[in-house]
Amino acid sequence: MSEVNQYVDYRREGDMAFLSMCHAPVNTLCYELRCAIDHYLSVAEQDDNVQVVVLRSNLVAFSAGADISEFGTEKSFAEPSLPALCDRIDQFPKWVIAEISTYALGGGLELALAADKRIATQGCKLGLPEVNLGILPGAGGTQRLPRLIASSTAAIMMCDGKPISAAQAAELGLIDVVLESAEHAEAALLQLWKACAGTKPVNMFEQAYTLEADEAAALNAYQEQQARRWYGLKSPFAIVDAVTQGMAMPLGEALALERTLFDDCAASPQARALQHAFFAEKEALKVPGIGRDDAHLAIQEVAIIGSGLMGCGIAINFLLAGIPTRLLDVNVEALEKARAYIQKTLESNRDKGRISAQKYEQALMALATACDYEDIANADLVIEAVFEDLAVKQSVFKELDRHCKPDAILASNTSTLDLNAIADVCARPENVIGLHFFSPANIMKLLEVVRTERTSAPVLASSLKLAKRINKVAVTVGVCYGFVGNRMVAPYSREAFRMILEGARPSQVDEALREFGMAMGPIEMADMAGIDVGCMAALANQQEWQGEESYQALQFALREQGRLGQKTSAGVYRYDDGKKQEDPEVLVLAKSIAESLGIEQRSLTKDEIIQRCVFSLANEGFRILEEGIAQRSGDIDVIYLNGYGFPRWRGGPMQYADELGLQTVLQGLEALQKNLGAYGERWFSVAPLLKTLAQTNRSAQSFSNV
Ligand code: 3HC
Repeated sequence: MSEVNQYVDYRREGDMAFLSMCHAPVNTLCYELRCAIDHYLSVAEQDDNVQVVVLRSNLVAFSAGADISEFGTEKSFAEPSLPALCDRIDQFPKWVIAEISTYALGGGLELALAADKRIATQGCKLGLPEVNLGILPGAGGTQRLPRLIASSTAAIMMCDGKPISAAQAAELGLIDVVLESAEHAEAALLQLWKACAGTKPVNMFEQAYTLEADEAAALNAYQEQQARRWYGLKSPFAIVDAVTQGMAMPLGEALALERTLFDDCAASPQARALQHAFFAEKEALKVPGIGRDDAHLAIQEVAIIGSGLMGCGIAINFLLAGIPTRLLDVNVEALEKARAYIQKTLESNRDKGRISAQKYEQALMALATACDYEDIANADLVIEAVFEDLAVKQSVFKELDRHCKPDAILASNTSTLDLNAIADVCARPENVIGLHFFSPANIMKLLEVVRTERTSAPVLASSLKLAKRINKVAVTVGVCYGFVGNRMVAPYSREAFRMILEGARPSQVDEALREFGMAMGPIEMADMAGIDVGCMAALANQQEWQGEESYQALQFALREQGRLGQKTSAGVYRYDDGKKQEDPEVLVLAKSIAESLGIEQRSLTKDEIIQRCVFSLANEGFRILEEGIAQRSGDIDVIYLNGYGFPRWRGGPMQYADELGLQTVLQGLEALQKNLGAYGERWFSVAPLLKTLAQTNRSAQSFSNV
């Protein structure tokens, strides 16, 4: 009894029984909570005084759905299972009203869908986000939602996975009553109950329905639009099947179909990968020794040094979060250009409906510019985004040290440089941190938070808290060349360019990796970032590849010819009229470099291309992990998912390696080392940690520096 009390608070008032979930923090429908709900449903069923059960929450939110951490364990199947609980609510002989607060997601909404009536407060979010976890709503959602609202809308809502507001839900017929605020709940409930009392709940889900022609057409059109976004995914297709086929069946059969499709998706590698990504993003925010209380530095005003594209992109994040931001540049003309660029970007966001007109005005009002360091003396956080050169950055930090207030956070956006050497020039190195944004900084979700040997706990904790405020996915990393993301991209890009010398066409390399699921191929990515930028990054790390003449030899040769990528309309590809085309001249150039270096050209397979690029990525990841630059393999995955376009349904390079099996990866790397002669010998030596884990039959995830 005490056990069930911990999960549900039960109270009867007159003919109403209130069953309030209280499983902190978000009422995940774990085994114990399901048992408690089931138990109190029995209590209410047996109590002749009870005529209606109100299912609600004692916490802020109604429910975040099934407990994802239970998936695949015995507890997730243990009765009452979530589908069985929903069925029981659906069949319950007395009225059931769900009173939804803050959000009802996944299984949480499915519980509410099984009830006879639903009321929700205005700001509530309702959604079935299972698709983001590689599964489909598996507790009746795929069958009850399309029977309650327009079936194509229901399918689209499940395929998108995005929650909708209570007001939208009411318009669709998903919610019966929308409350202005939670204070009105009691009165609204009584009113609703008054209208129902004395009648019997009608079950509208039992029968089969025909999918109307216009509904089917709307769903087909939507599917066509989504072709690119759904690439590689299983569950959106399963959702469409569940809706279109299930609608035509009586509920019992339709639910059985849902179960079959759910089990099939749940057992897939992509479901494991997507669920790994969900937890990895939460875990990445946890840094040992750093607690919530450490995040006490208030950030009310931000300054950004450098008004280039990066500085502008970074500024937009803060402006959109309503934080006053001052852009500093010694060049007045550059500042004017930057202001115009920021205004144009915000305007375009407003015109596309991404932000309201009011938000646009507020963001513009929050922007200020300055040419003098004295003007940023009040900033709580300063982010340096100047040219990627150690001496230049050090001179900026000396100025910051001189002018900024004592507890200001002094951040650098460096993507490769030694942050300890930057902190060294300050009298307060404990205030120095790296905040590495990814270009375009107002769009890319990732923020690498680089901790030096001396960064203080409040500076780190406050930076992590800030990341959430500006809607970034933050990962804390240590100092090394390129940190985690760019250090790993070096071997990935090395292989991509080397294979062109070995005879692969650039488009063949890009297509293979896009087929693997990367948002972009490595060669087109180099053209977009700038061939000169790639060369600079290679030169900054020259000691690592000394003696390897083929290392980025094609990029250096292209730079020599002024082919700097998209910005000069020619890089590896040509961009006549902006359209990307393979350039035979580059194939000739690659061939002549290969000849001069004694590299024999041959044909390469898609598998070899993928293996050489992706295994190199993971191999470097294991080195980073072993050196403690990343805390966990999941952190590396989060970086690649949010900053480098790695397919989320593969979970990231480390999860991909785990899914393949580390022994397979080890054997693959050893074969490449053997088969590629002296080149292979040098570049495919296996990271010691990978070898150890593979030989002891362990996974990357099993290793942690925490
Ligand atoms: N299962 C397990 N743990 C969950 C969870 C879930 N469904 N939802 C949240 N949590 C955990 C988080 O991991 C976190 O744990 P931590 O404190 O140990 O890190 C804690 O709850 C709080 O979560 P957040 O830090 O994310 O809190 P926020 O307030 O920022 O966000 C949220 C809350 C919007 C609910 C967000 O956590 C979320 O989107 N959760 C996932 C919702 C979801 O996908 N539900 C569907 C589940 S699958 C399902 O229901 C299957 C069914 O159809 C059969």
